[in-house]
Amino acid sequence: MSLAMADFTFVTALVRQRSAIDLQPGKEYLVESRLAPIVRATGEKDIASLVTRLRRGDDKLSNEVVDALTTNETSWFRDTHPFQAFSQHLLPELARSGCRTVTVWSAACSSGQEAYSLAMLLLDWLPNNPGLSAQIIGTDISARMVERARAAKFSQLEVNRGLPAPYLVKYFEQIGREWALKPAVKSLTRFERGNLALPPTNIPTCDVVFLRNVLIYFDLDIKRTVLGHIRRVLRPGGYLVLGGAESTLNLDGTFRRMELGRAVVFRHSGGAS
Ligand SMILES: C[S@@+](CC[C@H](N)C(=O)[O-])C[C@H]1O[C@@H](n2cnc3c(N)ncnc32)[C@H](O)[C@@H]1O
Repeated sequence: MSLAMADFTFVTALVRQRSAIDLQPGKEYLVESRLAPIVRATGEKDIASLVTRLRRGDDKLSNEVVDALTTNETSWFRDTHPFQAFSQHLLPELARSGCRTVTVWSAACSSGQEAYSLAMLLLDWLPNNPGLSAQIIGTDISARMVERARAAKFSQLEVNRGLPAPYLVKYFEQIGREWALKPAVKSLTRFERGNLALPPTNIPTCDVVFLRNVLIYFDLDIKRTVLGHIRRVLRPGGYLVLGGAESTLNLDGTFRRMELGRAVVFRHSGGAS
């Protein structure tokens, strides 16, 4: 299957318009391989005829194409240190500051492992902090991922990726070949579709935002826009946790970089950018 330059340009513009994901020339192979299953499923002859259909303005198909071009790589307690910082530094600090309901946003949550890792840490912590409660909101642009996160069922291969055995025993039950999260974990979370490039809706004021491994897909302007949107819902003094390769440096001057153990977090200073 080969991709004409004009079709590649059309698809990348569609993806940028609907998700802000920046697919530069050189990503033709990615577009070809991700669209191949859609070509088969729709019975189209090839990518060219799929793109012809997209050009006619098929909204449902356009969403499927954008969804297919998101990269949903994730794992439990990904990179370890941010999660250690959350339970060892951020939660005690929030309790000391008088926070009653710990509110965390897992922005770009993929299939939910990040949000559920945080939920398990909170379930371990809450019994020692009577009177406190917690809520976690997970959002992602991919409808497919939001559906998977809500289902809260994971394959053996998925639970093998970073989930400590004691957590598997404590918080999951095996149903057939899958591992399902127990209601206690699910009850701390809700998942919704959301585009980070647009102003957040339905997100309460947050104490902590995990925005990990997603800024890398955006150009500079969109990165700044997204950080501006985070600032609208992160309370002054709240914490932003980014991926290992990401920073607010040169993007947004209102965040102060802090090292907590072996993790780096960014604290919202309260000012405007
Ligand atoms: C690589 S995953 C990261 C998942 C998780 N945060 C982690 O670090 O393991 C990136 C996620 O960002 C989502 N994404 C991409 N563009 C987005 C946008 N504009 N708004 C919301 N989510 C987006 C993708 O659908 C994908 O699930």
